[in-house]
Amino acid sequence: MTYIVNDNCIKCKLMDCVEVCPVDCFYEGENMLAIKPDECIDCGVCEPECPVEAIHSDTEENMEKWAEINRVYSEKWPVITEKKPPPDDAKKWDNVSNKFEKYFNKNSGK
Ligand code: SF4
Ligand code: F3S
Repeated sequence: MTYIVNDNCIKCKLMDCVEVCPVDCFYEGENMLAIKPDECIDCGVCEPECPVEAIHSDTEENMEKWAEINRVYSEKWPVITEKKPPPDDAKKWDNVSNKFEKYFNKNSGK
């Protein structure tokens, strides 16, 4: 198993999660993060840190899509180990529906 980041991270990208991961397995896209499944040790520490509940165990229902997206993009994006300032309008994007279809950006974060 692994933990995954789902689409509620998109455009929120609060980055509280990166500070607590003991193995630094978060990777940064332009507007969301991904967890690398091969590196995640399933400690679960990051899950309660996300203010918008975008982190889940892949053992929960309907997580296959997100597990694959995390696997694919964690291979493409750079590792992130320190929190940066989140987007100014992050709060506005919590719980917006269909964020992946409408707003996902496959480019790397900077
Ligand atoms: Fe890192 Fe643990 Fe979260 Fe996996 S579950 S991403 S190892 S903090
Ligand atoms: Fe995203 Fe939540 Fe981390 S919004 S960057 S998964 S703290």
